[in-house]
Amino acid sequence: MNGAVILETLERVAGKCGDPTPLVYDRLFTQHPDVKAFFVLDTDDGVKGHMLQEALENLIDYSGEGQTAGHFIRAELVNHDNLGIPPDVFRTFFPVLRDTFKEVLGDEWTAEMETAWRGLLADLDGMIAEEAAGMANAGA
Ligand code: HEM
Repeated sequence: MNGAVILETLERVAGKCGDPTPLVYDRLFTQHPDVKAFFVLDTDDGVKGHMLQEALENLIDYSGEGQTAGHFIRAELVNHDNLGIPPDVFRTFFPVLRDTFKEVLGDEWTAEMETAWRGLLADLDGMIAEEAAGMANAGA
């Protein structure tokens, strides 16, 4: 996975559309209408914005030093499962980010970006699947 290309994607998206929060959650709620209800008390979009910011910071960490993302994402996987958001839904957030950014960048989305994001998503998915399997065993 080419971390520099991931960072470049995030910078370009910020330059092009500013705050991508509405686009990300529009896409999430189109793909998973069932999770919208979880955000019913978030009337000022503060939780949505903060969650996105944390997810992006994890991607930045993972693409660079990779010191905290693994721990953070594993902890959030458990927190979200306790909220009623299972790992299979949790894991969809990162592909939603990639798809949103690809749409924002349009023609500026490069083959390099496609490869870098595919690698990043595969890594994260592997980590989440491993942790989810551990959670299932612990609950069994
Ligand atoms: C489709 C997947 C996801 C859904 C449906 C979801 C849903 C939610 C909901 C409903 C809350 C509010 C919880 C509350 O009211 O206490 C929340 C908070 C949060 N989520 Fe997610 N989440 C998802 C994926 C993720 C991912 C991938 C991350 C990052 C690794 C993440 C990080 C956070 C954080 C840090 C908060 C706390 C935000 C705050 O309270 O300001 N979430 N999430």
